[in-house]
Amino acid sequence: MSIPTYSIASIPADGIGPEVIEAGITALNALAETLNTFKLNFTHYDWSSETFKQTGKYIPDGGLDQLKKHDAILFGAVGAPDIPDHISLWGLRLAICQPLQQYANVRPTKIFRGTSSPLRNCQPGDLDWVIVRENSEGEYAGQGGRSHQGRPWEIGTETAIFSRHGVERIMRFAFETARQRPRKLLTVVTKSNAQRNGMVLWDEVAREVAREFPDVTVDKMLVDAMTTRMVLKPETIDTVVATNLHADILSDLAAALAGSIGIAPTSNLDPTRQHPSMFEPIHGSAFDITGKGIANPVGTFWTAVEMLNWLGEKEAASTLLECVENVCEQGVLTRDLGGQATTKEVTAAVVAEIQKKK
Ligand code: NAI
Ligand code: MG
Repeated sequence: MSIPTYSIASIPADGIGPEVIEAGITALNALAETLNTFKLNFTHYDWSSETFKQTGKYIPDGGLDQLKKHDAILFGAVGAPDIPDHISLWGLRLAICQPLQQYANVRPTKIFRGTSSPLRNCQPGDLDWVIVRENSEGEYAGQGGRSHQGRPWEIGTETAIFSRHGVERIMRFAFETARQRPRKLLTVVTKSNAQRNGMVLWDEVAREVAREFPDVTVDKMLVDAMTTRMVLKPETIDTVVATNLHADILSDLAAALAGSIGIAPTSNLDPTRQHPSMFEPIHGSAFDITGKGIANPVGTFWTAVEMLNWLGEKEAASTLLECVENVCEQGVLTRDLGGQATTKEVTAAVVAEIQKKK
């Protein structure tokens, strides 16, 4: 019997990216070998700040066409101490997300067994959230400019763009996500009291799309109030939809509340499935711990879980998540979670856990 084979592009890139992606691929290969229900073929791309310094480009000519041939992309992190962050981010990560129309960024949060939240009295299920981030326009549309550079009257503009098309498709995706979860509860985050154009359009479209989903309960929340609700009443939240900037901030807060940004994953999805989607841990290249072998690989393992889910390998995905949680529960944790284990030790423990499933 032939089993499905998926072609995965891996782009480890900078800092701890290569360390955690190596760990992720080790776990995925162990899973594929043990379960024997699917196969993964990895193609490695060395696109990084190093190649940028050598060639002046993060992505070589024709690189995006190569990427489009894969079923999914596994991404590490981009950013180097000697390159401005806006150059590295726009040169690699956004240069993939935008042309591949990965307009939905999905960030799940939960407290893993064996880890704890910095919130007092927080129960394990209280932070079971999914944050849906608009990933193609809004505040990160790249619209704006600089004039009179270096003069005292210099100006810089950063224009947020909200299109009916862009808002409608992310709202529909968020409602569909909420509908698939047991509580069917969606919070639409906005700032339409102060931002009276784009954010008002955002609210209007949310109300229109809500009519198509009568089974989903919706509430509206200003972004500033949302931060306090996340901290003080986390159990009242389930699925959240917010703009590119708002959700960027809220999801880092969510990751910290769940214990560490070393745990959380991100999916950059093209829900139309015309192009491959890209999966990455939420964290950056973490220069302070690069090369020390102590990066937490759990964020990349959970990223791999999300990738398998998107590819339709639901059983394999939940098996991997269960194995990772078992390892956390056994206390095999990196320093960011209060343990002493190295990246390789955590990875070996997860592989051993996977092999028990044979
Ligand atoms: P960061 O996420 O790289 O690091 C923040 C803190 O969290 C550091 O103390 C780091 O050691 C710790 N940390 C992060 N991941 C960890 C892990 N897996 N295990 C243990 N500890 C971990 O964020 P920072 O310092 O703001 O950014 C560093 C660089 O990464 C910058 O160039 C930034 O632009 C880039 N970046 C890239 C992202 C991406 O590729 N998607 C996302 C965020 C930042
Ligand atoms: Mg961020």
